[in-house]
Order: sequence, then C-alpha cells, then structure tokens
Amino acid sequence: MHLPDLNVAKDRKKSENKYINLEENYSKVFQNKKYFLRTYGCQMNVHDSEAIRSYLETLGLTNTENLEEANVVVLNTCAIRENARDKVMGFLGKCKYLKKNRDDFKIVLLGCMAEQPDVIDDIQKNHQYIDIVIGTHNLYDLPKLLLQEFNKQQIEVYSNSDEIIEGMNYTRDSKITAWVNIMYGCDKFCTYCIVPYTRGRERSRKLESIIAEVKDLKKNGYKEVTLLGQNVNAYGKDIGETFSHLLECVAKTGIERVRFVTSHPWNFTDEMIDVIAKYDNIMPYIHLPLQSGSDNILKKMNRRYTKKEYLELFNKMKERIPGVAITTDIIVGFPNESDADFEETLDVVRTCKYDGAYTFIFSPREGTPAAKMEDKIPMRVKEERLHKLNELVNYYSNQNNQKLLNKVVEVLILGDSEKDASKVYGYTDTMKLVNVEGPKSIIGKIVKVKITDAKSFSLDGEYLEEKVAN
Ligand code: SAH
Ligand code: SF4
Ligand code: F3S
Repeated sequence: MHLPDLNVAKDRKKSENKYINLEENYSKVFQNKKYFLRTYGCQMNVHDSEAIRSYLETLGLTNTENLEEANVVVLNTCAIRENARDKVMGFLGKCKYLKKNRDDFKIVLLGCMAEQPDVIDDIQKNHQYIDIVIGTHNLYDLPKLLLQEFNKQQIEVYSNSDEIIEGMNYTRDSKITAWVNIMYGCDKFCTYCIVPYTRGRERSRKLESIIAEVKDLKKNGYKEVTLLGQNVNAYGKDIGETFSHLLECVAKTGIERVRFVTSHPWNFTDEMIDVIAKYDNIMPYIHLPLQSGSDNILKKMNRRYTKKEYLELFNKMKERIPGVAITTDIIVGFPNESDADFEETLDVVRTCKYDGAYTFIFSPREGTPAAKMEDKIPMRVKEERLHKLNELVNYYSNQNNQKLLNKVVEVLILGDSEKDASKVYGYTDTMKLVNVEGPKSIIGKIVKVKITDAKSFSLDGEYLEEKVAN
C-alpha cells in the first residue's frame, strides 16, 4: 500500500526523466465479464481513459454502458473543483448500493482525486467497499491489481514521479481525431490549482516518440491530432527542446489538422506564433486562459503576467495569425476579489471579445495556498458575478458565430449529430461545433459547409462539397 503525501507532491528537485517502455503480456482471463468506465475532468483524463480501456480489454473485459451489468466499475476522477468531487461521491453511492447483492462487482477509483490525501483518508474510513485505488502516476498497475486475489482495499498512489511511459496502448474513442500527450505534470503552481500536486512535475516526452506516434496515427487514417499538456509552452524545457520546434515537426508530418491544449499566456513565444501562422495544417485556434483581468488578483494567483501583457499577447496573436479564434478560462470570486477587480475582468472580456470562455467560481482546494487566503466575499456575490460574466461571454460568442452566417467554412466531420440523427457534426478549423445537413458518407472527411444558422454554442450548416486537396 502506498498513500499520497502533499509534501512529496510539492517537491520539484531537479531529477532525470525516466523513459520506460512498457512491454506487457496479459491474457484474457476476464472473458464474459464487463466493465463500466466513467471519466471526469480534462482532456488528460479523457486520454488516460483510452489507456484504461485498452488495459481492461486486454484482460478480456468488454464495455457496457449499463452499470447494473458491469463486473468492474472504473471511475477516472478529477479534483479541480469541489463539484467534480461531489459528482464522484454521488456516483459511488449508487455503486455501493449495487455491490450489496453482488460478489463479482469490483470498484476501482483512479485519477486526480486519488492523489489527494484527504480523499484517501475518507476512502479508508468511510468507503471500504471501493476495492482498488490507483494514482495518476501508475495507471499501468491496473491490470496487475485486478488480477491479484485480495480481500482488503488496495491503495497504490505515488505522489511524484520522474517516469514517462512509452509504448502505452490506447483504445481510442475516435478513428478520426486523436489525443497525443507531449508532456506530463505542471510546475506553474498557480495558487488556486491542485494540478501540480495531482500530476507531479513537468516532464516532456521525447520529440522522436511524439513524431513517431503522429506518423503512425496518420498512417492509420487519422485526420487530426491534439497535442496535450497542462502548459504546452513549457514543452521541452527539461530536454533541450522547444514547443515551437515540436509544433513545426508535427506540422511537417503532413497530418491534416494539428491542435494543442493548453497554452499558458506566460512565455508564449513569438516563434510559437510564427509557426502557427506559417503552417496551414496548424489550426488557427488558441485556448488562452485569462483567469482574471485584475493585476492584483493575477499576482495573488501567481499567474506571472499582467493585464497589459496578456492583452499585448492577445493582440499579437490576432494580428499575426489570420482568422485566429481565441477562447479562455476565467475564475470569479478568488479570495477577496473586489468589485473593481471583477470590473477589470469584464474589461478584458469586452476588449478580447472571446470566441468562447469556460467560467468558474473559485473553489478552495486543500493544500493549495489560495485555500488559506482570507476571503470575505459572500457566495451570493460570486454567483452574481458569474452570472454577469456568463451573459457577456455568451454575447460575444454569439456575435462571433453570427459573423459566419452564410459563409463557407471547412469542417472535419466526426459523426452523427447528437441533436438530430439525420445530420452529422464536426468542427471548423477555429473549433466551432457545426451540425451539418449532409450524407453520412462525409464522416471522417474535411468538407466545405455553408453556415445557415448561428447560435451561442453551435452553428448549423449545409454540406457543399469535399475539400479539394492542394
Ligand atoms: N493547465 C490549464 C488549466 C487546467 S484546469 C491552464 O493553466 O490553463 C482548467 C481550468 O480550471 C483553469 O484554467 C481554471 O480556470 C479552472 N480552475 C483551476 N483550479 C480552480 C479552482 N480551484 N477553482 C475554480 N476554478 C479552477
Ligand atoms: Fe493549474 Fe496553473 Fe498548472 Fe494550469 S498552469 S495546471 S492552472 S497550476
Ligand atoms: Fe481534473 Fe486532474 Fe484534469 S484535477 S482537470 S483531471 S489534471
């Protein structure tokens, strides 16, 4: 048994990356058994779940969407805000109830919540029905633990890691677009954020491994890759590489679309902007979290930029990357955020007229510096701010979408539309969701679409023709 420790998790002593090639051989011992997998949180978790699926299927388990017929339930959890945790706890209640009358029902909890000591404490005291808990650094222990015979709760969580696992198999959710990890962890320590503790120190995959993976995806018919990191600008710092160089190498593989998330506004270099502008297959879309428009709050958040610097970067991107769409993340109600601070945030939103924004009320995370800061702002005020901010954000995303009305755009079609089964859906190069009237045969292709209706969160369009290869 290994338990998480926040002091160990905080440790950022320089140490060498350990590149580990997993060569595993598991046999299908769980044939006729089923798994149910639920994923919470960000794209990292979505992609980790593709690895989890692969492990479960290697052991012979097959997927079910029906919790009641599952033999193994896996929850891949997120710790970013309290409500993420509440959702998991609610779902665990259901699992506990189902398990009462079953002897072949295992519950596995993985992901960022497993890295929180207070969660583990609670699990040990109050949730003994959870069979296995695994942290973010050792997902690969899942098959080993499932295969073990045991009669007490198994907790295997490591707080920090130098490991970079190569050779991981993924059962990917899509055959058209794929996630590609370029780095793990985060060293930024924004004062509100739990991620540097749950994901450990920043460490980069080798450039050759990433390029090999992208080439392989391209060979297998994938049209789009999204390069994943908590802070992609920091790629390569530990191995003498840069994100701009990586991005250029990925673009040169000739895969049709390249995306990346997430960019920190600090240290977003001119070289990165130039590379994005230079290559047609790097999509003109950047997610650039603002968090706050107030210098006072940005400082308390340890974001390392001022409002002025953020706006300069934003304007440079708009000038140099034709047609670029920019979205953002904003937190309201950071400890003691004043009305004047909040006004500064609204001011940035009015200036940037974002294509979209994810907005959150600050949620204190145990162990982070912001959780200990004095906060006199009542929740009611925070909720009012969120509401006001959302109205403004929606106004601009709607305005930006309206500009596309009657225009012809290129859309990568991903599958059947959720809204209307007779339609298909996909994304523009600027990452706008479009429901398209067109034949099912265009799924997996980049096609020209005429936009016929624009709303705040999606567009409607008509299929015109396939994109002509240049
Ligand atoms: N690495 C990304 C962020 C990942 S978390 C980045 O730096 O941009 C996604 C978003 O969740 C953050 O951008 C932030 O807006 C929000 N967030 C993180 N911690 C939070 C907290 N404690 N309370 C509320 N929102 C939070
Ligand atoms: Fe969290 Fe900041 Fe790292 Fe993003 S950059 S993951 S907000 S600590
Ligand atoms: Fe959540 Fe962990 Fe991602 S805390 S947002 S799943 S890195």
